[in-house]
Amino acid sequence: MEPTTFVLFGATGDLAKRKIYPALFNLFIDKKLPQSFSIIGLGRREWTDASFRTNVEQSIRDFSRRKGTDAVLVNEFLQAFRYSVLDIDRKEDYQKLLLLVEQREQELRVAPNRLFYLSVGPEYFEKIAAHIQESGLGSAQGWKRLVIEKPFGHDLQSARDLNEKLSKSFAEEEIYRIDHYLGKPMVQRLEALQQTNPVIQAIWNNRYIANVQITANETVGVEERAGYYDHVGAIRDMFQNHLLQMLMMTAIQVPSKSAADKVRFKKKQVMEALEPLQKQDVASSIIRGQYAAGSIQGKPVVDYLAEPGIAPASMNDTFVAAKLQIDNSFWRGVPFYIRTGKRMKEKSTRIVIEFSEPLKQSSSTVNEQAAPNLLVIEMSPNEKIMLQINTKDTENKGEFKPIQIDLNPGDHDFPEAYESLIQDALHGDATFFAHWDEVELSWAWVQPVLEAFEENLVPLHKYASGTYGPAEADALLAQDGFHWWFDS
Ligand code: BG6
Repeated sequence: MEPTTFVLFGATGDLAKRKIYPALFNLFIDKKLPQSFSIIGLGRREWTDASFRTNVEQSIRDFSRRKGTDAVLVNEFLQAFRYSVLDIDRKEDYQKLLLLVEQREQELRVAPNRLFYLSVGPEYFEKIAAHIQESGLGSAQGWKRLVIEKPFGHDLQSARDLNEKLSKSFAEEEIYRIDHYLGKPMVQRLEALQQTNPVIQAIWNNRYIANVQITANETVGVEERAGYYDHVGAIRDMFQNHLLQMLMMTAIQVPSKSAADKVRFKKKQVMEALEPLQKQDVASSIIRGQYAAGSIQGKPVVDYLAEPGIAPASMNDTFVAAKLQIDNSFWRGVPFYIRTGKRMKEKSTRIVIEFSEPLKQSSSTVNEQAAPNLLVIEMSPNEKIMLQINTKDTENKGEFKPIQIDLNPGDHDFPEAYESLIQDALHGDATFFAHWDEVELSWAWVQPVLEAFEENLVPLHKYASGTYGPAEADALLAQDGFHWWFDS
């Protein structure tokens, strides 16, 4: 891997502490960082190199899956870290940063390959990108990359504005938009599952698949993020990005060689084939919910409107369920049901592929009780791929019974999403990052939904915390003769 200087804006923040340092450390332990690697942390706080390292060390102790590592290795890792105070608006601070970056490159005798990671609010993306360009930080001989996190805009127009501004300083190939769901090991396995298994490829279409269900349920509520969440809701926070990305990854016909541009081209094709909704019709395909008081795992929790910082009459959505259709030859007629909610009964993130019922496939002898085959790609609570098939029930003659086969037994030490994503960004592999085309098409699909919510054209259903959301979300499937799998 090429030598790299990792320049981290927002080095004193929560994401850096919880995700980025532990991920870098795990990569270091696995020898997946470049041989010559330096990290320059930036923030407003008056930290020194020493206090920065102490904080990084603490974050490793608290959050790394390699907590117990030998102190000598931890110390070796920390040697890569430098800190510089930076006020996002101050030109001089970027000049100071440039000097530090150059000094490190000379010390390590490495080419000026620079990865700028913006672990800051999206309102700062544009400014920082412009300063990187103006200061000369971005015009070195090596490569430069910009890593940013969602949200990319608030709606279609603001996303376009943001992209246009960023593109003045960085080319599309240099921008790595993180959607951490694309870093989840099971989402990444979807690609290999199709690509390397003709048996899966052959049935990955509307001839054999009856419906697809994508769920991302959480037990947490709004937490301390009222200021952000009450303006965003489940539709912008989860649906527009994570859930549509999972849909794309499920519905693409994976190319035989998965170069980033090919995978992204296929994802774009899926989004282009997604049947658009008209604002007036949103209510028939989308269920909007908001949590009421209830109890989660025996603990009472309050109504969304009673959470600190939430507007008293907020109509914000904490739950969204939707039925989507992809109009292409592979998926025509197969409903994709998607749902996400806060304060649900349990944390569960999974994709369920329900195959057509045996009875509908072949006419006669199959017992009516035979359950459909299911392929389940589960990210939470367990990371696994499971296949449900039918076998003869030896205890009840003439009956069938479904059995569930774990397709990755014993394979349980998965890297965390941020590890894979940071490693890929260092390698320059953009396969599992969101291309602008996908982001724009996702916003374009969601835009009429945002407007319908805004104009109250879609009822807001209250649901008790600790349930699977409003009953209307069940009815959405029931009207097609289906039900959500694994709600118990
Ligand atoms: C984030 C959302 O992107 O994803 C959060 O902003 C949400 O609201 C989180 O809780 C869920 O991620 P995960 O990996 O825990 O499913």
